[in-house]
Amino acid sequence: MKINKEASLKKFNTFNVSETANCIYEVEEIIQLKKILSDIKGQILILGGGSNVLFTKRFEGTIINLRNKGINVIRENKDSILVEVCAGENWNDFVIWAVENNYGGVENLSLIPGNVGAAPIQNIGAYGVELKDIFYSCSGIRLNSLEEFEMKKSECKFSYRNSIFKTELKDKVVITSIKLNLTKSNHHFKIAYKELKENLSNFELSLKVISDEVIKIRQSKLPDHKSIGNCGSFFKNPIINLSKLKKIKAEYPDLPSFKIDSNKYKIPAAWLIEKSGFKEKGSKNVGVYENQPLVIINRGSASGKEILDFANEIKYTIHNNFNIQLEEEVLII
Ligand code: EPU
Repeated sequence: MKINKEASLKKFNTFNVSETANCIYEVEEIIQLKKILSDIKGQILILGGGSNVLFTKRFEGTIINLRNKGINVIRENKDSILVEVCAGENWNDFVIWAVENNYGGVENLSLIPGNVGAAPIQNIGAYGVELKDIFYSCSGIRLNSLEEFEMKKSECKFSYRNSIFKTELKDKVVITSIKLNLTKSNHHFKIAYKELKENLSNFELSLKVISDEVIKIRQSKLPDHKSIGNCGSFFKNPIINLSKLKKIKAEYPDLPSFKIDSNKYKIPAAWLIEKSGFKEKGSKNVGVYENQPLVIINRGSASGKEILDFANEIKYTIHNNFNIQLEEEVLII
C-alpha cells in the first residue's frame, strides 16, 4: 500500500488536471481496504482508473485508489464460463485476456479506459453492447457497516449509463470484484453498429476480428488520454419525446434519431454540440475533440474549473438552441 499525503491528483485522472487531495491511498489488498475504511473519518472517494471524473477543486477528504488484481474462473461448462474479475484490474487488459482465451461477450467493449470496478457504476457500453448484457453479480463492502455483500444483476438496476451505484447506493459502497458470464462457443457476434457492419461485411467473424475493428474505430474517433486529457463522452445522449423530435426535425431534417419506444428517441449529443458550432469554439486550454465533439479535451494545462465552465457553456447553449437539457456522464467533484 502507498500513502500520498497532500498529493496531486494529476496521475489519477485522465483529464490530467492538477487538483490536490488531503490523502490518496493506493490499496492492493481488501484487508488493507477494510482497515482504512474503519480508521478514516470524513469524506471518502473511491477511485478506479480516474477516467470518468472531473476534479474542479481541491478534494478535502481521502481518496482510495483500489488496485486489487486477479481473474478467477468460478465455474464453466463446454459453452460458457463465469469469471470473477477484481475491481483494480484494468478493463481493457481483461478484455484482451478474454479475447485471447476465446471467451465471448466483451469484445465490443475493447479499449474502454478505466478499471473493472467502475464498469458497473455507469453500466459501460459501446458499439451495441452494455456491461449488463454479460453481468452476473458484483461483490463489495458497505462503507457504513463494513459488511461484505454480493448483488445480482437484477438488484443493480442497470439502464443506459446508470445503475443503483449512481443513485440509491451512491457513495455508500465500494465494489471489489465483478462476475461476468462469457461464452466459450456459439458466440453471439454483435455487429449491428453501422460502422462495424459495413467494415466487417467481408470478414469471417471472430472475437479477435470484432475487437480489432472496435479498436480501429475508437482510435479514429476518440483521443488517447495519454496524449490529450479527456474522459470520453462528457454528456449522455439525451432521450426526447416524439413531439420535441418532430419540432427539431422541422428545422433540421438531418437530425439523427434512434427509436427507443413509440414516444422516446435517443439523439446524439455530438450532433447537437457540432450544430451549435463548438468544434470552432473553446480556448487555448479547452475544447471539443474534432472527430467526436461529445469528448471535451484538455489541450494541455486546463484547470478542472476551466473544463467545467466550458461544459456549462455547452449545456447552456444546447438548452437555448434546442430546449434540451444535457446531463453529464462524467462525475464532477
Ligand atoms: N456526430 C456528429 N458529429 C461528429 C461525430 C458524431 O454529429 O463529429 C453524431 C453522428 O450523427 C453520429 C452520432 O453523433 O452518428 C453518434 O456518434 P458515435 O457513434 O461516435 O457515438 P456517440 O453516441 O457519440 C456513444 C457512447 C460512446 C461509445 C459510442 C459507440 C454515450 C454518451 N457515448 O457515443 O461511449 O463509444 O456510442 O457505441 O453513450 C463513453 O461513454 O465515454 C463513450 C465514448
